[in-house]
Amino acid sequence: MSLATVIRAEQKLLLPTYDRQKVLFTRGRGIYLWDSKGKRYLDFLSGIGVNALGHAHPAIQKVLKKQAGKLIHTSNLFYHEYQAELAKRLTKISGLDRAFFCNSGTEAWEGALKLARAFARVNNNNGHKAKWRLLALENSFHGRTFGSLATTGQEKYRHPFAPLVPGVNFVAFNDAQDLKRQFDGSVCAICLETIQGEGGIRPVSQEFLQLARELTLKSGALLILDEIQCGLGRTGKYFAYQHYGISPDIVTVAKPLAAGLPLGALLTTERVASGMHPGLHGTTFGGGPLACVVAIEFLGELEGLLGHVSNLGKYFLGLLKELQSKHATIKEVRGMGLMLAIDLDSADTAKAVVSQLLEQGILINRTHDTVLRFLPPYIIEKKHIDEVVNALDRALSSQPAGAKKQKKVERSR
Ligand SMILES: Cc1ncc(COP(=O)(O)O)c(C=O)c1O
Repeated sequence: MSLATVIRAEQKLLLPTYDRQKVLFTRGRGIYLWDSKGKRYLDFLSGIGVNALGHAHPAIQKVLKKQAGKLIHTSNLFYHEYQAELAKRLTKISGLDRAFFCNSGTEAWEGALKLARAFARVNNNNGHKAKWRLLALENSFHGRTFGSLATTGQEKYRHPFAPLVPGVNFVAFNDAQDLKRQFDGSVCAICLETIQGEGGIRPVSQEFLQLARELTLKSGALLILDEIQCGLGRTGKYFAYQHYGISPDIVTVAKPLAAGLPLGALLTTERVASGMHPGLHGTTFGGGPLACVVAIEFLGELEGLLGHVSNLGKYFLGLLKELQSKHATIKEVRGMGLMLAIDLDSADTAKAVVSQLLEQGILINRTHDTVLRFLPPYIIEKKHIDEVVNALDRALSSQPAGAKKQKKVERSR
């Protein structure tokens, strides 16, 4: 089937939710994808942080084929062999005690919000209204369902669907004073991404996260971290919060967990899990045998890749900073591990750079208008980073505004 045929059919048959790039991918292997015309692309986006092991990884293929022939789905009315095993591995690497499995990031986040309210109700023994307020951060992104949208601090996602779930207030990003001002005994949870992803790759500050931990510990509220994009090895540690030396009450994960199959999870402590009982929350598909057995395989592979992610992340960051010193159009370089971004001074330039790289067979994306985001598979090598940085250099130099600014910088040196 040709790209034109697919575009025509989708335009007629699908809800117009996506503004897709005009590329029809037909296969992938390792860090490369191929389109319907046989053109090869270097994948520095990995399906928005999902394909951490690249495409068609031999170990994932093997376990998928084996399990598909054995058992794909049972529902959560019965036991299968792999949920407890996967929970054992996730609790070990996170330092938490219990897991709940679902199908996507937004579902994991919904589960976390529900658990926070349920826990507050169970622990409400002072005769007043149970803690109910959720403090979330401005500029955040937690998904597209109603609870997730209600805690997403970006008007463009929220406004068309208002009114949203009540009881949410937004704190200015990394503003400790604002957090102190808005926090009181009615707050049941502070909810945030350890590194904001869709919001432009912005790590929360040590001071802010520590304050959030202290306030919640003192009042009996929960600290919920969304590591759907930044967790599971993306920053060179299993979880981004492990860089900060704190532990949350709940953490959510999804994207790379089952190497491309839909699987999300929330992980929590024994204490908080006491807020749940059978029938209070659930899912038909979540945590099925196929997705779980693949996730176990993914975690096995991940163990040997953390050091590599960390080293290559430092190498990539160093090159992006060099690029910044050359191109005045780059306002900031941000991120950790292999979750990196450059923030440009113009949305048009960012758009043009993404198109130019796509033309040259390199996949990256643009978020928050001006931010070029890099979420490559964990299996990349230095030479792939060199290739992307050289392509960025050429693309930035060829932008009319970029070239002018670059000259100005050179003259002023
Ligand atoms: C931090 C974060 N939370 C939640 C989500 C929602 O995940 P999903 O699209 O799987 O529902 C995303 C998706 O990009 C995300 O980056």
